[in-house]
Order: sequence, then structure tokens, then C-alpha cells
Amino acid sequence: MSGTKTIIDAQNGKTFEVPEEMLQSGSLIIIDSRNGKKYSVPVTNGTIRAMDFRQMKISDDDFGLMTYDPAFLNTASCRSAITFIDGDKGLLRYRGYPIEQLAEKSSFLEVAYLLIYGSLPTKTEFEEWSHNIVHHTMLHENTKKLMEGFNRDAHPMGMFISSVGALSSLYPDAKNIFDKDLRQLQIYRLLGKMPTIAAYCYRHRQGLPYVYPDNTLSYTGNFLSMMFKMTELKYKLNPVLEHALDVLFILHADHEQNCSANVMRSVGSSQADPFVSLAAASAALYGPLHGGANEQVLHMLNDIGSKENVAAYVKRVKEGEVRLMGFGHRVYKNYDPRAKYIKEIADKVFEVTGRSRLIDIALELERIALQEEYFITRKLYPNVDFYSGIIYQAMGFPTDAFTVLFAIARTAGWLAQWQELILDQEQKISRPRQMYVGEGKRDYIEVKKRE
Ligand code: CMC
Repeated sequence: MSGTKTIIDAQNGKTFEVPEEMLQSGSLIIIDSRNGKKYSVPVTNGTIRAMDFRQMKISDDDFGLMTYDPAFLNTASCRSAITFIDGDKGLLRYRGYPIEQLAEKSSFLEVAYLLIYGSLPTKTEFEEWSHNIVHHTMLHENTKKLMEGFNRDAHPMGMFISSVGALSSLYPDAKNIFDKDLRQLQIYRLLGKMPTIAAYCYRHRQGLPYVYPDNTLSYTGNFLSMMFKMTELKYKLNPVLEHALDVLFILHADHEQNCSANVMRSVGSSQADPFVSLAAASAALYGPLHGGANEQVLHMLNDIGSKENVAAYVKRVKEGEVRLMGFGHRVYKNYDPRAKYIKEIADKVFEVTGRSRLIDIALELERIALQEEYFITRKLYPNVDFYSGIIYQAMGFPTDAFTVLFAIARTAGWLAQWQELILDQEQKISRPRQMYVGEGKRDYIEVKKRE
């Protein structure tokens, strides 16, 4: 016969007697003070299952306890083997590989393969992978015509989101999400066509003829050609810029359960096809608190105008009047490793393009902010968006196209997250609960009787 053990309540120091068999290792003991019942809830990977609370009832017709977590501050929505972040230490790994090593040694297409399939490709696998993506870069002419309908001053993200969604109408086979080969085909199509759509958005706004993909170029080389080629027969690439863009794409490729990845999974969980799911994820990315921040950083730096005005701007931030765009992160409470790396790329790019005057304002902002109590206590550091826009601008991209660049790169991560979801037996349609706080039942009143 097992006895009881005395447990101390960590909050108020009171003691409780708990049956010894409840104290298995790796479990959480919960005592419901409403009825004195005790529960043992297993802890796995530092997580308890929210559904384990449902058994905690005070009467037979009680629904059971739920957890309340607006904005998912402390809720794991899935098990994932794709990206690891240690926000306190400022670590980021894709499939176990540190982001710094991938940025240094890999390429965006190789990283996309790694994210989606879980391991680095062999030489043959990589050749086949690249060949298939390159051979899906063309857009159906109908898509081009659809894009011609947008206003000349339409925001590129609006065009991008609509055009990606429209691909769904061209590829009805994409609905077969449980067919491995068809899923593979949509992955090639999406990775192949994102740069083409992005470049067409830009050319349309400029009133320039569209440039068709050049399959002899690298992924980023082809994108730069579709963006900037004029009358020359072959676009002359600058290898430093081509490589810098590739590295920027690697740094943006995935970031575990961020707002847009969560949307990709949420829409995907309804078994919608990957084109519409990805359009929805892109829409989430567009917001200024997420991927739209890179565009906002540029506006902010331009508004600040010079190094001398930085201190006054930081004062406004501290007074809660404005946010310091490109600063802060839900997960990183230390320097974002991507931002650290992007700063290094900036120097290489400026050697080719000339130094951007905005970088001095950004460096001064960072310097002042990092010594201010407001930022230190809130653990606010530069994030990926703080320096990326300055580089994109130096490379010739217009400010409102920055988030589109983020979307091209993040397509790899969205697809990896989507495929993991589709293959996860534990997942179901994504459907949170709520705490209803509205009116109780009330009777309808005819309009003439309403006061
Ligand atoms: N400037 C000034 N104050 C800030 C900032 C900022 N950029 N970010 C957070 N804070 C303050 C915030 O006011 C709050 O203060 P208090 O406790 O006094 O109310 C505290 O820091 C915690 O902020 P929060 O809004 O609760 O944090 P969150 O995790 O909900 O938000 C965030 C994360 C990224 C939305 C936010 O930091 C932010 O708005 N940053 C600016 C936009 C930005 O750069 N976004 C890009 C994120 S990285 C790329 C990506 O993955 O999308």
C-alpha cells in the first residue's frame, strides 16, 4: 500500500497530502481548490496538454476547464521538427543546422530542400530539385493578363497575394493534398513562380515589359534579371549582390510558428489547397507588425532624416507615441541572430552600391536604443527587419516591394510547415475555443419598439 506525500504550494506555502502514486516523475499535480480534487497531468517536452484540463469539473454538466491564451503567448500549437529558436540565447537553427553556418555555406534552394525534407540533399537530389524548380518558373499567360488589371500604383503585396491565390484556379490538381507526387508538384510550382510573380508586380508598376525567366541563371540571379533587365540580351549580374540576396533569402526562409506560418497551418488544416493557403499566409506577412515591418523601417528612417534627430525619436518611442519599427520580437529576448548577420551583409553590398545614408541613422538608433532603460528592461533588440530594408533599397528595390522579397523567401518555410501539418496524424482542423463574454439570452424587439 502506498502512502501519501506532503506537497508545498509554491504560491502560498500551504501544505497538501498527495497519494504517492500521483507523483510519477514528469507529471504536474493539480489541486482544484473548488472541490479539493487532485489530478496528475503528464509533462512532455516541457508542455502539458490543454485537453487534460477538460476533466477538471465541478459538476457533471460542467464543460471542464479550458486554457485562455490570447495571441498564443504560451501555447504550442504543434510538434515541429523544422526550426528551433532559443529566444533568450538568440539562437536559430533550421533542422538542427545553425543559421550562421547555412548563411555562410549553403544556398537558398538547398535550404528550401532542407526545410521541406529534413536533410541536406545529395548532389543528385539537389540537381533534380533545382531543375524542377527552375522548370516551373513560367507563369501561365492568363496570370500575366490578370496582373495587367491592377492599378499602376497598386501595392505590390496586394498584387502578390491576389496573384498567388489566383494560381489555385489554374491548378485544380492542387486540391489533392494527400497525394505525395501532386504535393511535390505544387511545391515546385510555388517555389518556382514566386519570384516571377514578384518581378511582374514590379514591372507592371514601372510600366515596363515583363521579363521571362532565364533558366540558365541561379534562383536569385533569375529573379534579379526578371526585375531589372532592360534591352540587353542577357542581364549582367553582379555576383556580390546575387549572393547577398541569396543569403537574405536564407535568413528569411523560416521562423517556426510566426503569425504567417500559423495562418498557413490554420488555412491548410481545413484542407484548402497550398496556393490559397499561401496567399493567406502572405496576407498575414503583409501586416506592419510582421513582414511589413521592413517597409515601415525605411519610412521611419526617412522620417527621422538625420542622426541628430535620433534621440528625439527615441524619446517619442519611450513616451508610447510611436513604435521603433524593426525592434522587438515575441520570441527573441536577445539580439536576433539574423539581424546580426544582415549587418555584415550590408557592408559587402555597400562596397558595390555605395553606402546608404540611412545606415548611419539606423546604427545611431540602435546605439541609443540599446543603452536606454526602456529597451533594456523590455529586452527589445533589432530584429530581421531592421537592416534588411536598407540593403534592399541599396540594391535598387523599391520600398513597398520589401515585404514581397520576404514572401519569396518565406515560401520555403510556409511549404515546410504546411507539409508537416498535412502529414501530422495528431492535427485536425484548426479551431480555437473562446470565453463567451457577451449578453445572455434576450428576446428580439421589433424595430418600432426599440428605444
Ligand atoms: N517599439 C517600442 N516598444 C515596443 C516595441 C517597439 N518596436 N516592441 C515592443 N515594445 C514594447 C511594448 O510597448 C510593450 O511595452 P509595455 O510592456 O510597456 O506595454 C513591451 O515592449 C512588450 O511588447 P508586446 O507588444 O507585448 O510584444 P509582442 O511580443 O506582442 O510583439 C512585436 C512583438 C514584434 C509585434 C513588437 O515587438 C513590435 O511591434 N515590433 C515592431 C514591429 C516589427 O519590427 N516587427 C517585425 C518582427 S520580426 C520579423 C517577423 O517575424 O515578422
